[in-house]
Amino acid sequence: MTTVKLPHFVTVKDLTNEQVLDLIERAEYFKKGGAVPKFDTPVYVTNMFFEDSTRTHTSFEMAERKLGLTVIPFDPQHSSVNKGETLYDTLLTMSSIGVNLSVIRHFENEYYKDLITLQPDQKMQMGIVNAGDGSGQHPSQCMLDLMTIHEQFGHFDGLKVAIVGDLTNSRVARSNMQLLTKLGAQVFFSGPKYWYSEEFDAYGQYLSMDELVKQVDVMMLLRVQHERHAGDEKDFSKESYHAQYGLNKKRYEKLKDDAIILHPGPINRGVEFASELVEAPKSRFATQMQNGVFMRMAMLEAVIAGRKLGGKA
Ligand code: CP
Repeated sequence: MTTVKLPHFVTVKDLTNEQVLDLIERAEYFKKGGAVPKFDTPVYVTNMFFEDSTRTHTSFEMAERKLGLTVIPFDPQHSSVNKGETLYDTLLTMSSIGVNLSVIRHFENEYYKDLITLQPDQKMQMGIVNAGDGSGQHPSQCMLDLMTIHEQFGHFDGLKVAIVGDLTNSRVARSNMQLLTKLGAQVFFSGPKYWYSEEFDAYGQYLSMDELVKQVDVMMLLRVQHERHAGDEKDFSKESYHAQYGLNKKRYEKLKDDAIILHPGPINRGVEFASELVEAPKSRFATQMQNGVFMRMAMLEAVIAGRKLGGKA
């Protein structure tokens, strides 16, 4: 049974190091085939993705099914959100119908803030699991990244981790830099200066990609998020990005023997990552997606326990 109990899972900022390590241990247990909890009463969950997703959405649904939860379909494209219904009223509807948990991806930063603070006084009772909010947080991606790093090194203290690319737009970068530094890792950044801001100075040093490849344990490449750009990338070209910040064969060969490469996906092949390296021995791209299912099981279980759902599991 999980030792972590949370009413919601919306940000990594509030997690203690002990909770992070316990969630990793639980996810590793599920990955090794450990017994899945049996809930005495049904737990109903819906996945509400207001932004596109392949892996987070599918991975949460796989995790939910492996945990034996009842998944209630929700398609924002054909919902009453298109008639102007607010997110709160959509959740009030779901709660009234009997849904216990909502996994939500939304374009607005901190969309969850009012929803979780209002709850005690409202009829809407819903456990919220954040599947990504604007450029704010991506807790499940961060937790599966940490699991993948832990699998390789067994610890975080003193590890050198580079986070490279479209930093200002990246919720993956924010969640990771916050938790990795808290766990004792040394974070570095690289990428175009038009996607770098002072916000990152508090978490690590900016270095060139060529300085980083020789010394880091983890090379975390970020997706170039064209859909979030507003003209701040006038100098951008795929070729020049790849030449300056991309992981090519020459840079790959300079990485330490036990270094690993992470990418949250989807990959722009030939931009962040040379296409022939996506499945190279040091790449953990596929492992991250595999680990995501087990980590999301651990996260959902923590919220089920925190909300006392599922009976005596
Ligand atoms: N990493 C990630 O969030 O991927 P999706 O957008 O496909 O869910």
